[in-house]
Amino acid sequence: MDKIIKRISFFGIAILLIFTIFSLVRIHRIQNERRSEIDVLQSRDNFQEPLVRDGKVLLRLANNQGPSHPASKACDYFAELVKERTDGRVEILNYHSGQLGDEKDVISQVMYGGIDLARVSIALLAEYEPELIVLQMPYLYENADHMWNVLDSEIGNRYLKSMRDVGVEGLCWYDAGARNFYTTEQNIHNAEDLKNLKIRVQESFFWSDVIKTLGAEPVEIPYNKVQQALKYGEIDGAENNFSSYIGMGHHMYAKNIVMDEHVRIPEMIIMNQSVLEQLSKVDQEILYQAAQESSVWQRRLWEEQEEVTIKTLEKSGVNITRIENKQDFIDQVQPIYDTYGKGYKSLFAQIQELKGK
Ligand code: GCU
Repeated sequence: MDKIIKRISFFGIAILLIFTIFSLVRIHRIQNERRSEIDVLQSRDNFQEPLVRDGKVLLRLANNQGPSHPASKACDYFAELVKERTDGRVEILNYHSGQLGDEKDVISQVMYGGIDLARVSIALLAEYEPELIVLQMPYLYENADHMWNVLDSEIGNRYLKSMRDVGVEGLCWYDAGARNFYTTEQNIHNAEDLKNLKIRVQESFFWSDVIKTLGAEPVEIPYNKVQQALKYGEIDGAENNFSSYIGMGHHMYAKNIVMDEHVRIPEMIIMNQSVLEQLSKVDQEILYQAAQESSVWQRRLWEEQEEVTIKTLEKSGVNITRIENKQDFIDQVQPIYDTYGKGYKSLFAQIQELKGK
């Protein structure tokens, strides 16, 4: 009996020992992997160099929309094209849903090189490149085609290139539709109805000013905190496109939406310039081309998805107000043109000429 007990304990101890050795080896291996990851990251000169792993360039792209959003799908498409055309030499790793931080932080990270690429709203980019305000003036474009005529023209290209002033390369434009006001209680029929309402805006001095000019009180809140602010009554409403209104669940708490379409704010794929320039000329060209193709693909997807979203919202009991005459809104924002539009008269004239082309 004693012998059996001894044998069992011997085997027990042996198994425990083998298990402990196995775990220690595993921990050591994981630690080594982590260390080499950190080494590679730290070996980047001030992050202004691409991250190279096993001879492959890895680029991180930040985006604050969920995976099924048209912009996210287009970023995935962009990544696929790049991987395929570079035969896997360059790989774009997409981080959707704001995993790499708020849009504001992400933009400064792309400038610094901590993040290689991002898909961002130009509302926030204008904090660094104020001339971008021209492209997001309220009631500037007649419709999406008008905006695309501008973005696809020399004007759009000039703006993409102007991002070099702040150390990033604008690779292409994405569509973000028209933005509308939505509220938890008060239904909006005209500009007067916005008076004194607390309205969430993007973290943008310009948009805070537009909201003030409309008589409402702007509250700057990061994108991922808006639903909570609506839920807990910290704000009376917000403004965004249909995809974000439903995608971020704002429609659950702000059931009144007015299609005043006060602005179309285009979006850009930006890339740290130094990281881009360190790629081979061939790979740089592939990146530009793939970004352009993803832009064309994205705008089609946007259009299809927007129609479906409006129908879904109508069925879900959201109260959608359509307004025939937006003149009172347009009149109300005139001071914005007087202040911010000064010095851009001829540019505005060129933009107006691209209507209905
Ligand atoms: C749009 C845009 C986002 C932006 C958001 C906002 O949905 O796609 O990039 O962050 O507006 O209102 O903050």
